Amino acid sequence: MALQVRALDNVGVEVSGFDITKPLGAALAAELVSLWNEHGILVFRGQDVNPHNQIAFSRVFGELEMHPLAATTSAEYPELFTLVNKPETEKYMTARYNGREIVSKLDWHMDLHYTGKPNRGALLRAVICASEDGLTGFGDLAKAYDALDEATRELLARIEVTYAFSMQRRHMRFVNLEGYEPGPYSPKKPSDLNFPSFPEVAYPAVVTHPVTGRKVLEICEQFLERIVAPHRAGLCNDEAVDLLQRLVEHTRKPEFHYFHQWQEGDMVLWDNWRAMHCTTGTKPGVERMIHRTTIMGDATLGRVVD
Ligand SMILES: [Fe+2]
Repeated sequence: MALQVRALDNVGVEVSGFDITKPLGAALAAELVSLWNEHGILVFRGQDVNPHNQIAFSRVFGELEMHPLAATTSAEYPELFTLVNKPETEKYMTARYNGREIVSKLDWHMDLHYTGKPNRGALLRAVICASEDGLTGFGDLAKAYDALDEATRELLARIEVTYAFSMQRRHMRFVNLEGYEPGPYSPKKPSDLNFPSFPEVAYPAVVTHPVTGRKVLEICEQFLERIVAPHRAGLCNDEAVDLLQRLVEHTRKPEFHYFHQWQEGDMVLWDNWRAMHCTTGTKPGVERMIHRTTIMGDATLGRVVD
C-alpha cells in the first residue's frame, strides 16, 4: 500500500491510501510523519474514525497531551478533547460582527502560543458537522516567511515580538475590530473562565522550527502586542507598529491559507509550530462537535517577559 498525496488549495495536502481501522505498519507511519513535516497541514477524508483509533493514529505523530481542563475530556478517553457548540452554552461564545451574531469565531492563532510553549500539533475530527459555515482555516507561516523580501527578513532577524493574553477581543491590538461588538455574556477577564492570568511572552519574529529547521514567521494576529525595544533595531515606535500591521496583513493573504469545509469523518492534522489556524464560526443555534487530540512538544519557543 502506498499513500496518495494531493495538494490542497494553496497550502497543505490531502493524504489517502491507508485505512485507519487497520494497523499502519512502520513504513506507512514514517511516511505520514515525513509528510506532516514537509507540508505542515494534512487532511484525511472518508476514514472510519472512532475515539479509539483517532487516539492510536495521533500517537504516530508523537506523545499525546492530556488537556488540563478535565471538564472538556471524557473519563474513558482522557487524550480526547471535545469542542462542542450547543444552543445551551453558545451565548458565552457569541459576538456581533457587522450586526450579525456569530458563535465561536476565532482569529488566527497558534494553540498555547501565549504560554511560550505551544504544543507540537493537533488533530481534529468532525463528529457533528455544522449544517452551514463552521470552517476551520489553516495558515502556513513557513511559506509566509519564504515570501518575505530580503530587507524584511534581515530586519526581522533582529526583532522580538510579544503576545499578551486577553479575554476581551477588543483589547487585542492587531485583530480586525471593524464592526465588532462583544456579546453581553462575553468573558471579561481570564478568571471568568477559571483561567490563570498569563504573563506577556516574547518570541523571535522568526522562529527556526525545532524539527524541520525551516524558518517560520512568528506573527499571528491574536494576542500580538508589540516589538520589544524597537529602537535596538533602529525603529521608532510608530514604525514598529506599522511593521507589525504590515506583517499581519501579509499573513492574511489567501495564498498562505487553506479553509476546511467539514464532512463527517474528516480529520485535519497540523503542525502548531508552523501553521496558525482560525475558525469562521456559525450563526446561533447550530450544533457542532469536534474531537481533538493534541501532540505534545518539548521545545520552548518563547520566553516570559519579566
Ligand atoms: Fe486553536
